[in-house]
Amino acid sequence: MASDNKKSSYISGRESRRITRFNRRVTRKLEKERADANKDTALYTTKMKDPRNVVEFDNVCTYFFSDVGVVKAVDGVSYEIPVGKTVGVVGESGCGKSVTSLSLMQLLQRPSGQTVGGEIRFNLGDGTAYNIVNTPNAIMEKIRGNRISMIFQEPMTALNPVFRIGDQVDEVTLLHHPELSKEEVKARTLEMLELVGIANKEGVYNMYPHELSGGMRQRICIAIALACSPSLIIADEPTTALDVTIQAQILDLLQNLKDKLNSSIMLITHDLGVVAGMADYVVVMYAGRVVEKGTTDDIFHHPSHPYTIGLMKSKPVVGKKVEELYNIPGNVPNPVEMPNYCYFRDRCEMQCERCHGDYPPEIRISDTHIVTCYRYFDEGEIVGYPKSVDVEAL
Ligand SMILES: Nc1ncnc2c1ncn2[C@@H]1O[C@H](COP(=O)(O)OP(=O)(O)OP(=O)(O)O)[C@@H](O)[C@H]1O
Ligand code: SF4
Ligand SMILES: [Mg+2]
Repeated sequence: MASDNKKSSYISGRESRRITRFNRRVTRKLEKERADANKDTALYTTKMKDPRNVVEFDNVCTYFFSDVGVVKAVDGVSYEIPVGKTVGVVGESGCGKSVTSLSLMQLLQRPSGQTVGGEIRFNLGDGTAYNIVNTPNAIMEKIRGNRISMIFQEPMTALNPVFRIGDQVDEVTLLHHPELSKEEVKARTLEMLELVGIANKEGVYNMYPHELSGGMRQRICIAIALACSPSLIIADEPTTALDVTIQAQILDLLQNLKDKLNSSIMLITHDLGVVAGMADYVVVMYAGRVVEKGTTDDIFHHPSHPYTIGLMKSKPVVGKKVEELYNIPGNVPNPVEMPNYCYFRDRCEMQCERCHGDYPPEIRISDTHIVTCYRYFDEGEIVGYPKSVDVEAL
């Protein structure tokens, strides 16, 4: 087994040089296209499919051009985030949750990380939208932190240890509203600190991050994220570093502020309990693709994809005694060489005849519920197939 693994991950010097040359050629070309500040607006302006959505991911493909080959971290992902709603994104580690959100912010580690296909439509609220995939850096700087903001997993590393809290919150307002005076900016920061439940706002304004507790630091990160009243807040594991009581307080706070600002939340988490309590819609990802999406009720009460069924079986239920919690057997396929059949097939206990064919289509099984699995092929309506990008053609 060990020698098999060694063999499959072995790359000859010649192959390695070929990969390096290929990566350099492709990423240079893509970077050149992105750097064009005078790009015609028509190339990145589009229309939402449904104006009730703030963001629409449409067959998004984000790949990493790594030394061992192309990692298809996100490959044909489609889902929507409706205005004023919370969408929970779940799935096991490495399935592409963070990479999807980083693609939306254009914060991928470049030049190796590139969104090579699909559209990410962001609603501008005036009947038009930006296709973030083609939006130039100069425009992204106006959107990031202003109209879309992000709360990271680890509040200590998200804050700069050498600057006072006040300066760090002020910076966001100053950057996006240069017309405000220093006093107005400070007043706005104090207002935000109060809004996120900091009692001693004047004191905290002058403190450094190390003088605050974990829960307070995460509140500061939320204040920074909300300083410009964004229409979308991306919360990537916002409470993983906090204890359970603080976790509940932070989630309540986030939910209340979202309603106050009429923002939407993209909530990325491993914690199904958090999703059940907060989300209106849930997207389940597996190996860089969406395997199931629907309302929270659809996913928790009628899980339909074998992976989601496994996830639900593996969560502890209060009052239900079990000898051992269920765990899904097997592993995720190698991201550099994904199979051309259902990515879950090697772990699936519910396979049928059709599963030996190509990757399954997205199938609508109710108005709100879509599953990517052959088990529903005869009863549901086929919505489409997730599309990969042929990297050799780039
Ligand atoms: N900078 C990078 N270079 C190469 N591959 C990367 C890079 N960042 C992410 N990946 C790959 O992309 C895939 C998806 O990663 P991602 O961070 O989105 O996972 P995730 O679903 O957020 O996992 P977690 O729950 O652990 O945060 C992984 O296979 C990872 O190895
Ligand atoms: S398509 Fe087949 S192999 Fe894939 S999850 Fe559905 S039943 Fe399992
Ligand atoms: Mg992540």
